[in-house]
Amino acid sequence: MLQQLRKITADDLARYPERGPVEAVVAAHLGLVAEQVLLTNGVDEAIHLLCETYLEPLDEVLVVTPRSACTRSTPGATGARVVRVQCAADFRFPLAKVLTASILRPALIAVASPNNPTGTVADREQLLQIARAPPDAALLVDEAYV
Ligand SMILES: Cc1ncc(COP(=O)(O)O)c(C=O)c1O
Repeated sequence: MLQQLRKITADDLARYPERGPVEAVVAAHLGLVAEQVLLTNGVDEAIHLLCETYLEPLDEVLVVTPRSACTRSTPGATGARVVRVQCAADFRFPLAKVLTASILRPALIAVASPNNPTGTVADREQLLQIARAPPDAALLVDEAYV
């Protein structure tokens, strides 16, 4: 291990690595094909790409507040209307409010689990309920802090 680390040059550290070869390794590990895996430079880039892919100007996007900086600006930057769903006073994940707000037929629902800064977790059952509720919404689950 130490020998391998010694082989890393300053030039290696100054560039992001090629994604393709590593995506193929990750895909093989997960039993997927490489086209199903996208590695990004941080979670922020993934959020950015998903927002650019799924949101059109004037679409609704649901986000739970309080929320981290990364979902504070990116969805709105696409021109989408950001609908904020406030978490409970004890910071519990506001499942019922998210489901109610889904009546607006959002194009995207963004859930950070664990959330930052609250540490709130949306469990698997809650995420599945959200995924099943609004027929056409993409569900972005940000697990950066898992
Ligand atoms: C919930 C959450 N997701 C994603 C990010 C961004 O992660 P990254 O630094 O990997 O881009 C942050 C950064 O604060 C965050 O709080």
